[in-house]
Amino acid sequence: MTETSLAEVLGGRPCRFFPRLESTNSTAVEWVKNEAPPSGSLVVADEQTAGRGRFNRRWMTPAGASIAMSVILDCNDPRYLAPAAGLAVADTVSPLVNGDVELKWPNDVEIDGKKLAGILIEAVSSTARPPVYVVGIGMNVELPPSLDFGRAVTSLAEHRLSVLGTIQRERLVAETAEQLENRLNGPEIFAHWKERLNTLGRRVRVVVFNGSIEGTAVDVDGEGRLVVRDDGGQLHHLSAGDVTISSDRL
Ligand code: BTN
Repeated sequence: MTETSLAEVLGGRPCRFFPRLESTNSTAVEWVKNEAPPSGSLVVADEQTAGRGRFNRRWMTPAGASIAMSVILDCNDPRYLAPAAGLAVADTVSPLVNGDVELKWPNDVEIDGKKLAGILIEAVSSTARPPVYVVGIGMNVELPPSLDFGRAVTSLAEHRLSVLGTIQRERLVAETAEQLENRLNGPEIFAHWKERLNTLGRRVRVVVFNGSIEGTAVDVDGEGRLVVRDDGGQLHHLSAGDVTISSDRL
């Protein structure tokens, strides 16, 4: 992927491309603070040296092997951002792979229970315009065997339909950005999200800021929160958390 090949498929969408960068999210946040680029603007890197994941984890983006993109979005209703981003990735990659692309609440994209992509949403404080968010998406395209990503991680290359040739990362970037913007259109997104979530009906353990909740994930509420029924029958509406899904479907 190069600046030119990316610009060719972006159809005029403002974009900053970097062969090597610490973090597309960090650069996008700075861009918003310094220059207020239009909603829909993109930061893309071929390699990240300090990619950031949720809960302050590191996110690896080796050169030539992944997608690291951040979309700058004006958004009055941030509840829709995680569903829109997850569905955008799932819809973009589904036609390319064998296997079901599923979403794990709130922000992971999985194939066969292994993580294909992660999403990091950050609010940028700004008073001059509608609330601005940076939606960072990291997608594993072709992971080098020399790097240890662990068994719970997968890539597009592992599942790619054999009739397809090389995966063109710039096309995936363009399609994902387009889908993400189009998906931000109202509460009906929650119904589509629920259809793709692999979390509902499953036994889960959710680590939240002050402990953890164990039980069955029964629903997503109108705020996009996961509803978990614990073993005492009490319902918990969780707005953020790290979810472990037990292997058995209930
Ligand atoms: C997670 O699952 O923990 C979220 C990972 C998000 C990684 C992406 S890669 C592009 C963008 N820039 C970053 O530094 N992080 C996000």
